This record gives sequence, structure tokens and C-alpha cells, in this order.
Amino acid sequence: MKDDPDLRQYAPAAERNREPILTVLKRVLPPTGCVLEIASGSGQHAVYCAPRLQPRRWLPSDPSPFARESIQAWIAHCPADNLLPPLNLDAADPTWPDSVQPLVPDITAIVNVNMIHISAWQSCLGLMAGAGRILSPGGVLYLYGPFRRQGQPTAPSNEAFDQRLRSQNPDWGLRHLEDVAAAAIDQQLILKEVIAMPANNLSVVFERI
Ligand SMILES: C[S@@+](CC[C@H](N)C(=O)[O-])C[C@H]1O[C@@H](n2cnc3c(N)ncnc32)[C@H](O)[C@@H]1O
Repeated sequence: MKDDPDLRQYAPAAERNREPILTVLKRVLPPTGCVLEIASGSGQHAVYCAPRLQPRRWLPSDPSPFARESIQAWIAHCPADNLLPPLNLDAADPTWPDSVQPLVPDITAIVNVNMIHISAWQSCLGLMAGAGRILSPGGVLYLYGPFRRQGQPTAPSNEAFDQRLRSQNPDWGLRHLEDVAAAAIDQQLILKEVIAMPANNLSVVFERI
């Protein structure tokens, strides 16, 4: 009898950034309810953060079937009572809150790590529109990743990363924090906090007003 294949994907960056991200999440997330993770990728953040953020629940998602297989495999390997199976969710789909809300009505926060620069701008707009609809006042949207900021030089490593992203797909690339914050405010999400993170990344925290 052959062993089942291990479908877990492994992203070294997720291994490195999971602890700094968790430290911020513990402080900024509402204390109860369900955290919807959009663009969970391998699922490493889900299995690491969920048991450490109880009593909140954690709902991972990703539009990629390969990512969802990996998330399922990580959950099977590291189960947690408060970790839900992954949803098929594309942030660019303007209707995504309609499919999520009936399943999980108490989403108090959305976490999105390293997506908006590796996806078309439409995904960021869809993320904001959906977050504005699904979160109640006081709800939190947390973004993590590299950004450009007005009046501040971009780190050489991030400039190089931006070039690589754009050569892979012209719709990708580092976003300007000011553009992201403007898209957020259009959806009643105000910028609460920007936290410098290791390797020239930022944690960006929005609150639904
Ligand atoms: C670089 S990976 C990051 C994964 C994970 N958050 C991490 O930090 O390891 C980017 C992820 O974004 C997902 N993604 C891309 N476009 C998306 C969209 N429009 N909506 C939701 N997820 C998307 C991809 O499928 C991929 O899993």
C-alpha cells in the first residue's frame, strides 16, 4: 500500500514572518468572533495562528485549488478546534461576502498577508469592498506586506522585488500605502496603525467605522 502524498506546501517566508505577525494580531484583533484569512496560500499562517488566537476562530481561504489542498493538508497535520476548513474565495469577486456571511456570520476581522502586490489592483479593491460589507463597526482589516510610501525611499530589496513582480505580470507590483488607504476609506475602513516589520514589510491595520 502506497503512502498518501503529503500535499502540504512550505513557504519559507511564512515560517519567518509568522511570529512577528502573530504578535501584532494578538494586540490588534477584536477579542472574539471569527478571523477570515484571505489568500491563505500554503496554510502555514492558519495552523500557526489559529490555536494561539483562541477563543477566536480562524477561517482560511484561497482561490487556488492547490493552495486549498495544502491548507487542508496542514490542518490534517496540525488540527485545532477553532480552525475551519478553507473556502474558495477570490477577493476580486465583488459578491464574495454573500457566500461567506451565511456560513460564518460573526467575522470580526480579516487578515490578508502578502497578496495585494501579487495580484491585480482589482483584488485590493475587491478586498476593501468586501471587508467594508462584511465587517461591523469596530471590525479590523489587517494587511501585511511590502509597500511604497509617499516621501519615503523604498528599500533596494523591495525595489528589486517590485521589478521581478512586474516582469512576471505587469498588473502586479508594490502598492502605494496612500492608494490602499484611499481605497479603504471609500469603504468605511480607516487607517488606524502602520507598524514596521522585519525585512522592510509593514503591518497595516484598518478599522471599520
Ligand atoms: C504570495 S502568496 C501568500 C500566501 C500566504 N498569505 C503567505 O503569506 O504565505 C499569495 C496568495 O494570494 C492568493 N491570491 C492571489 N490573488 C487573489 C485574490 N484575488 N483573492 C484571494 N487570494 C488571491 C494566491 O492564490 C496565493 O495563495
